[in-house]
Amino acid sequence: MKLADHKATLSFSNGAPSMELPVYAGTIGPDVIDIRKLYGQTGMFTYDPGFLSTASCQSAITYIDGDKGELLYRGYPIEQIATQCDYLDTCYLLLNGDLPNEGERNDFHKLILNHTMVNEQMQFFLRGFRRDAHPMAVLTGLIGALSAFYHDSTDINNPEHRRIAAIRLIAKMPTLVSMAYKYGVGQPYMYPRNELSYAGNFLRMMFGTPCEDYVVNPVLERALDRIFILHADHEQNASTSTVRLCGSSGTNPFAAIAAGVACLWGPAHGGANEACLNMLEDIQASGGIAKVGEFMNQVKDKNSGVKLMGFGHRVYKNYDPRAKMMQETCNEVLSELGLENDPLFKLAKELEKIALEDDYFVQRKLYPNVDFYSGIVQRAIGIPVNLFTGIFALARTVGWIAQLNEMIGDPEYKIGRPRQLFTGSPRRDVPTLIKR
Ligand code: ACO
Repeated sequence: MKLADHKATLSFSNGAPSMELPVYAGTIGPDVIDIRKLYGQTGMFTYDPGFLSTASCQSAITYIDGDKGELLYRGYPIEQIATQCDYLDTCYLLLNGDLPNEGERNDFHKLILNHTMVNEQMQFFLRGFRRDAHPMAVLTGLIGALSAFYHDSTDINNPEHRRIAAIRLIAKMPTLVSMAYKYGVGQPYMYPRNELSYAGNFLRMMFGTPCEDYVVNPVLERALDRIFILHADHEQNASTSTVRLCGSSGTNPFAAIAAGVACLWGPAHGGANEACLNMLEDIQASGGIAKVGEFMNQVKDKNSGVKLMGFGHRVYKNYDPRAKMMQETCNEVLSELGLENDPLFKLAKELEKIALEDDYFVQRKLYPNVDFYSGIVQRAIGIPVNLFTGIFALARTVGWIAQLNEMIGDPEYKIGRPRQLFTGSPRRDVPTLIKR
């Protein structure tokens, strides 16, 4: 962290002495005011529910400029990564700080692909779930359970344990997600095939069966790889902050990632792609494009509780750059599969057009986020709606690990322990039962 050439002064209207606070500058983005000594010197906390103005850590991994609609992984624009690299290059970049050269690339790809199998006992663990369990419930359990299977990579303070845990998690996530799917549909699990690419392997484990050879469609393989790249990291979002907070207690990496999966499940976060597709299907069922106007009126009515899912973002106040890339992939996949006239895609386009011109959305700077199109692509590929968030979790695993490892390596890291403004009852005595 670099000290800025100016300081902030905090003054109080009650005559209490003012306080000088150091200001730090990042390489890009807003400066931060260091309030760590505030409580010690003034006896006061800051108040910022939802972290609207709070940087919870320093990080060199991902940068977002929400006003410009810019996303950088280790400084590289997402548009260049998504068109010139594959997902495993992206994983290497996020974990190690730079893109791999040819030798490093080959070694890393080989390393990941050699860890794709999961302990055979996992099948029995999976069997304890109901067949109709939500895949995110299953995944939260399976990933937490990894710590019970891989005892040699559970010490978060041991760099070698963290390295092996990272490789295992990235390699095994596609196997676990596809096992959760196969269990739900009652088909046999497909073992990974390491001559395939990361995305190709996942497609085969999802849609292949032991009865016949599965041929990977390169357009779908590339589309899935792009979904993985676009979801790989997104700085200090809710699930990443959960992983950091959970890991800050020194728990093992598998447990910390399982906490991230649980957080991602919510519809305001990773669950939005599922919620978005459900929304499109509901509008379609109630009359399709003809009902869009009525639906938009509900969205704008604060009392209705209806939101346009896949729209709006805490950080982006401009078009989410990932949504642009996803829209391109959406066109490619639908044309490859002959689904250009897909009614849900047409409906999504119509909703987007209306929203981008409507004052309600313009004034609030609400633009489509990545989930608006990723659901349509996944549905076209054949992925069931309730597995969308699982795919997101698979892709985000590398971001969570990179952020967790960065936190452990940060000399300033401490257990995360927010404070509160207490608004409950002051001290009182327990009344006897008849007086309550
Ligand atoms: N539809 C309708 N109105 C919206 C929407 C939306 N999707 N998103 C925000 N608004 C409105 C809010 O009602 C609020 O209006 P007001 O100022 O009149 O009260 C204003 O826009 C600001 O919204 P906030 O909820 O304060 O913004 P916040 O940053 O807290 O929330 C969030 C961001 C949770 C993403 C929100 O936009 C949302 O719920 N979107 C739909 C769910 C979604 O798509 N989530 C995916 C996020 S991206 C990801 O996780 C990959």
